[in-house]
Amino acid sequence: MASATVYRKDYIPPTHWVDSVHLEFDLHPQQTHVHSTLIIRPNEDRINNDLVLNGRDLELVRIVMDGRELDRTEYTLMPNGDIVLRGITKEIKLEIENIINPQANTSLMGLYLSKGNFMTQCEAEGFRRITYYPDRPDISAKFTVRINAPKSVCPVLLSNGNLVEEGELDGNWHYTCWEDPFPKPSYLFALVAGNLKCREEKFQLKNGKKALLQIWVEPQNLDKTEFALESLKRAIAWDEERFGLELDLERFMIVATDDFTMGAMENKGLNIFNSRCVLATPEVATDRDFARIESVIGHEYFHNWTGNRVTCRDWFQLTLKEGLTVFREQEFAADMLGDSTARAVKRIEDVRYLRDRQFTEDAGPMAHPIRPESYEEINNFYTTTVYEKGAEVIRMLQTLLGKDGFKRGLEQYIRDHDGSSATCEDFLNAMAEANMRNLSQFTRWYSQAGTPHVRVRTHWDERSATYTITLSQFCPPTPGQTKKEPFFIPFDVALFNSKGKPIALQLQAETNAKGTSRVLELTDEEHSWVFVGVKEKPIPSLARNFSAPIIVDYNYSPEELVFLSQCDNDAFNRAHAMEELSLLCINEMVSDYERGTRMVINPHYRNAFESMLTDKSISPAFKAIALTLPSETRIAEAQPMINPISIRAAIRSLREQLGRQFSHLIMRVFDDNAPNPVYSPNAADAGKRAMRAFCFELLLAGGNAKSLLRARQIFETSKNLTERLDALRIIVNSASPTKFTLLEAAETEWRNEPLLINKWFTLQATATVPMDECPIVDVVQNLVERYPGYNAHNPNNVYSLVLAFCQNNLAEFHRPDGVGYKFWVEQVLKLDRINPQVSSRLARCLDGWRRYTPECSKLMFSALKYVYSQPNLSTDLKEVVGKALNNATH
Ligand code: ARG
Ligand code: ZN
Repeated sequence: MASATVYRKDYIPPTHWVDSVHLEFDLHPQQTHVHSTLIIRPNEDRINNDLVLNGRDLELVRIVMDGRELDRTEYTLMPNGDIVLRGITKEIKLEIENIINPQANTSLMGLYLSKGNFMTQCEAEGFRRITYYPDRPDISAKFTVRINAPKSVCPVLLSNGNLVEEGELDGNWHYTCWEDPFPKPSYLFALVAGNLKCREEKFQLKNGKKALLQIWVEPQNLDKTEFALESLKRAIAWDEERFGLELDLERFMIVATDDFTMGAMENKGLNIFNSRCVLATPEVATDRDFARIESVIGHEYFHNWTGNRVTCRDWFQLTLKEGLTVFREQEFAADMLGDSTARAVKRIEDVRYLRDRQFTEDAGPMAHPIRPESYEEINNFYTTTVYEKGAEVIRMLQTLLGKDGFKRGLEQYIRDHDGSSATCEDFLNAMAEANMRNLSQFTRWYSQAGTPHVRVRTHWDERSATYTITLSQFCPPTPGQTKKEPFFIPFDVALFNSKGKPIALQLQAETNAKGTSRVLELTDEEHSWVFVGVKEKPIPSLARNFSAPIIVDYNYSPEELVFLSQCDNDAFNRAHAMEELSLLCINEMVSDYERGTRMVINPHYRNAFESMLTDKSISPAFKAIALTLPSETRIAEAQPMINPISIRAAIRSLREQLGRQFSHLIMRVFDDNAPNPVYSPNAADAGKRAMRAFCFELLLAGGNAKSLLRARQIFETSKNLTERLDALRIIVNSASPTKFTLLEAAETEWRNEPLLINKWFTLQATATVPMDECPIVDVVQNLVERYPGYNAHNPNNVYSLVLAFCQNNLAEFHRPDGVGYKFWVEQVLKLDRINPQVSSRLARCLDGWRRYTPECSKLMFSALKYVYSQPNLSTDLKEVVGKALNNATH
């Protein structure tokens, strides 16, 4: 089908409103009957009387309007599946009957089956795969639902809101009736039916009421739900406390499913989760998984206000709910950690993710503002730009307005728009009004794509004891946007004296010094600030705590970076200085490698490394994250032409040399970081485990044979997955043949637990050395084709094997012989027939083709062209590949 572009500027309000919907389902795997009754009335401001009911892959049985069945000539069936009823000028009652086939639904949008259980996913446009409906977020209606199903297959029948009735039916069927007290758009509808069990608890709310909380899972997973329920309780209490937002329902349910394209979905009162974002025990989840589960539970819960009570007018406004909710989720996670270094560790992780994924997106053919101006397929815009950069934009508002000011703004936004749909302007207006600030320039963050660079120049004048900081901004062109207007950039700075102490800051116009850090507001292309009373040449700490999603260009000397890595009292920037040093070192080694000379470690980096490793005053968690080498993606980001093979060679040599040169020190640090023997996913213990894994990796790289035995022993005896997986990964990435035995043992032990077998896939997909001479692409291909536990219909399987390989194993995927790309072509095309959201996500691994070495680049280009030339591609895939081929940004 030809893909049509949808533009934000073309938005028109609905022609009709839906006052109420009653849905009745007769569930059947291949033939589910849907009977819907709609009360529809014209929008007074309408410009047109034609009522469009969206529909996809539905079998229409009948339409009855005001009690009379419509004749086939009384409505139009459009080629895309929609129905148009012309001239609807007064309130009508519509009854529609249609049939759907959940079993044949492999897209996982609409109603589908997951291991025999019925599940739904309606955001963004999945409801039209269930029944005919004006499927757009600016139409909210009261929903009631009745579900009829055979009792034996579907003992549990759930939908949004409150359970108002249940009972028995003939032929061993039963039913439940649900009523959602809050009007909602169709994308928040959910239905779950099957054989599930729940962990539940009545939870006391601040307002005195009690709410029933339930986590529904397949029976064998009931023991993995405790952490999720605890996280949910923490999320509810946090939103009451921090933003005064209360749970508005008597009942709040979470359901886990193994078959889910995304992380989770905030359906009103009935969140549906990918099981990897909800199920956890120490045996099946790592420290990171625990942290992620808490965040995602928080995220979906927080949508209840930012997303559900106030929703989006149209899908271009997606960041209105997603950016804001990611921000809320990040603040929640940080508040749960408490102390400031633990918070900094979380911030460093979030920013690294942003730099790895979003900065790359911004530099490629799919670059778009956090509020896109157009799309071919909305599912392609659930991106890290909309989500994570969107969250950074919200964070900048909090930085500019202060925590209290931000909270006031959020309260006003919710007061003004509760129960309706809103736009990004509505949000900014509420923020501006509540704080009496003009934020008009700030809106450019919503309309301009690309990562701004801020160039910093400094000048210390000894005689006048002044220090001048000049900031100038520049944003590179992105598809469709060659010239950018200046952004409003909050730029947090501090100045350090030679003793490592921050100095009190006083700008020229001020009468006295105030504080030791300052948020400069850069609004022009260039601006200078003059600090007075600066008696010695200071070392600046710039864009502290990542105060804006920008790239800072400043020529620090290596000595200054070493200094900051030791003294900066902003933990984020301290780690950042360490990262800059390691990048400097790795880039030098990359050049050594490419010139064919011996790779040597930069002495400044070496010093900083040693001093941080031995610093007793910092927490293991911080040490681990600050010392961890930058990801290959991060290293690639800074290179004009990417050669993944040299990057990998440099990293390997760096690890090996560090492991050899510091082996005694590292062994000591390893011993000092024994975690509590009773496992808990808390940040302090997790930090110790991370520190140990880091030590292990270096020791083994440095050729320490004992550490191999030790790793094996940990894999074989430890009870928690974090340690076991770290140990196994380190062995898999070593030259030791033990890896085959251990991978086999892991398979035997893990094959019946999807969470674990997915980890097993990823270990192999991301292995940094060939297995027995066999390139990793062959290992992956072999698993895809021959391993019985791999199922291409299951997104988690695809993500943890195929996507993990193509996205995260740069040196093996981008082999100059092109086998990686050949594999990519096959997989993208195969998966496109099954689930277009999955194929287009995989397709994006070739976004950056212009930036690779000429040989790779040529092969990537032909792979893209080949895919694009195939018939019947999904709109999802077509958009992504088409943009990769057409948009020249470099
Ligand atoms: N709103 C969900 C979230 O919490 C994501 C839904 C994604 N759906 C999709 N079709 N891409 O982030
Ligand atoms: Zn979300």
